[in-house]
Amino acid sequence: MELEKVLAKRVSTRRYTAKLPSDEAIQKIIDAALLSPIVRWHKLHLSVVTSPEVMALADEAAAEIFAAPDAPVKMPRPYMYGAPVWIILSGKRYSPDENPQADRMNDNLFWNVGSIIENMELQATALGLASCGINTTVVAMRNKPNVRKAAGIPEGYDALASVIVGYSDVEAPERRVKPELIPVSYVK
Ligand SMILES: Cc1cc2nc3c(=O)[nH]c(=O)nc-3n(C[C@H](O)[C@H](O)[C@H](O)COP(=O)(O)O)c2cc1C
Repeated sequence: MELEKVLAKRVSTRRYTAKLPSDEAIQKIIDAALLSPIVRWHKLHLSVVTSPEVMALADEAAAEIFAAPDAPVKMPRPYMYGAPVWIILSGKRYSPDENPQADRMNDNLFWNVGSIIENMELQATALGLASCGINTTVVAMRNKPNVRKAAGIPEGYDALASVIVGYSDVEAPERRVKPELIPVSYVK
């Protein structure tokens, strides 16, 4: 698929079939993450979860926050929409106790995270797969070491971002560019 087409077809998808993508497809998505533009000083980890039990555990944890009466936003459940693959990016934040540059080092972590997640979503789209960035189950793991452990996140690492991947029975329309999303200025 042409890059322009991939960019237009990538869309946050919230309807999945149970069909599991092949190991080869999952590996290509992981390879895309590894090809993303990232600085080398962050300790990062990718967990590929295809266990329905572990996803159900994370869903329960997310419900404690997002189905609570005082929930900041109400989200439709299940929070990962029955997608068969959940890829979590975790990392170890620098601590100011160990490194006086910690804040500066941590400041650009978000940039690396965005690059990695986006590369995976674009590769999924190019393979004809659907995807969606998922924050609900990431937030839910913050105070749940048992869920982090079950999801294969290394000890001492925080869940930073995640993406679900699978097949959808909804045909993704090509999206148009919306200039109103981000104002642009040109300095010549
Ligand atoms: C940081 C981040 C977190 C997100 N978390 C969720 C989520 O928890 N659940 C969800 O359904 N969509 C989530 N999304 C998807 C956004 O809602 C979606 O990207 C946005 O609506 C724009 O739509 P598009 O991706 O189809 O262009 C997240 C996206 C980002 C970038």
